[in-house]
Amino acid sequence: MSQAPMNARRVLFVCLGNICRSPLAEGAFRRAVEMRGLGADFEIDSAGSGDWHLGAPPDARAQRAAARRGIDISGLRARQTSAADMAAFDHILAMDRANHADLRRLAGARHAHKVRLLLEHCPQTELAEVPDPYYGEEGDFEHALDLIEAATDALLTHITAAPGKCK
Ligand code: 4NP
Repeated sequence: MSQAPMNARRVLFVCLGNICRSPLAEGAFRRAVEMRGLGADFEIDSAGSGDWHLGAPPDARAQRAAARRGIDISGLRARQTSAADMAAFDHILAMDRANHADLRRLAGARHAHKVRLLLEHCPQTELAEVPDPYYGEEGDFEHALDLIEAATDALLTHITAAPGKCK
């Protein structure tokens, strides 16, 4: 994590491998924050519930999908979620129900309220989960990023409590 003020809002995105969906969410959310001029108010990170890809950059297909929308995620490196994350972050967003269940276990009763499914924040989709594009094709990454961009915009609206169409 980079430096942020003491009162920063700390937001963590979590998927399984931290090489496809959560780096896309980190990049999309960071851009939304910066476009609103709120960069100094946020600490943004991503992690994976699994440990297979530790230290790896985002999947090349995820990097390309992000780059097509002007988002650079090439510098990110995969890491695994920890119990310390559950205390350190204020908002912890899971990409799917399996991540959500893992995170709730890790968070325990004290921090469980911070853990939500990312797509809960956006009623523009009926989906509860961001489909895992890892075994898919380029178009699956585009679809994942469509959902992620809509939901991260809505999440930012929710966190900043501005009136908006998403909860
Ligand atoms: P992600 O995608 O959870 O969106 O990063 C995956 C990446 C790797 C694996 C599964 C999902 N894997 O099984 O290695």
